[in-house]
Amino acid sequence: MKRKLQAAVLISGNGSNLQAMIDAIAAGRLELEIIRVISNVADARGLRRAAAAGIPTCVVEHGRFGLRTDFDRALAAAIGAGDPDLVVLAGFMRIIGEAALQPFKGRMINLHPSLLPLHRGTGTYQKALDAGDGHYGASIHFVTGELDGGPVLSQVTIPIETDDDRHSLARRLAPLEHRLLVATVEFLTRHEVECRDQLIFVDGKRLAEPLQLGADRQLAD
Ligand code: GRF
Repeated sequence: MKRKLQAAVLISGNGSNLQAMIDAIAAGRLELEIIRVISNVADARGLRRAAAAGIPTCVVEHGRFGLRTDFDRALAAAIGAGDPDLVVLAGFMRIIGEAALQPFKGRMINLHPSLLPLHRGTGTYQKALDAGDGHYGASIHFVTGELDGGPVLSQVTIPIETDDDRHSLARRLAPLEHRLLVATVEFLTRHEVECRDQLIFVDGKRLAEPLQLGADRQLAD
């Protein structure tokens, strides 16, 4: 029998996206084993969510390292400990430096709350409102050396209403982010997905546009 895909999940705070994966696994909707949850914040609520689900946790606090590269190396060691097939950044609020990225290139994905390539970095809800965008959303992309700049695998889109502010947008997007993350990881358990030279290949075929999350909670191109 083929073994389950094994993932390490990186978080910094609440961990509601982590919880969505834990719940999907428990409900039999996701054939994944989360082998470790790593946080750069010692009191992140997500660590308690992981512990409650019986998942080993590990803290690599960025403040304890004088040099950025030392933090990255410690992070790489923590991630690599179980040799995961997949590394999921789910609300991980630190930039991944080269030393932490290199060993996991092509198997590290990040959930970002915007329709990339629009609005990289933080404060994305307000950036979209200030730009007068008609739509908002979330993206999952492969992590590269460029902040929020790697190839986008999947997205979910919502309309921006005239009375939206950043809070209402965040509230409406959150459950869809959860679904997007679960559907994308589930997709990765069923397909051969490769990221090379800034391009994504699904079962050998180049992905021209990001997969879109449909109302049926499935991804489609
Ligand atoms: C999500 O909005 C994600 O897009 C962003 O950080 C938030 C994490 O939420 N990068 P949670 O910790 O999963 O609840």
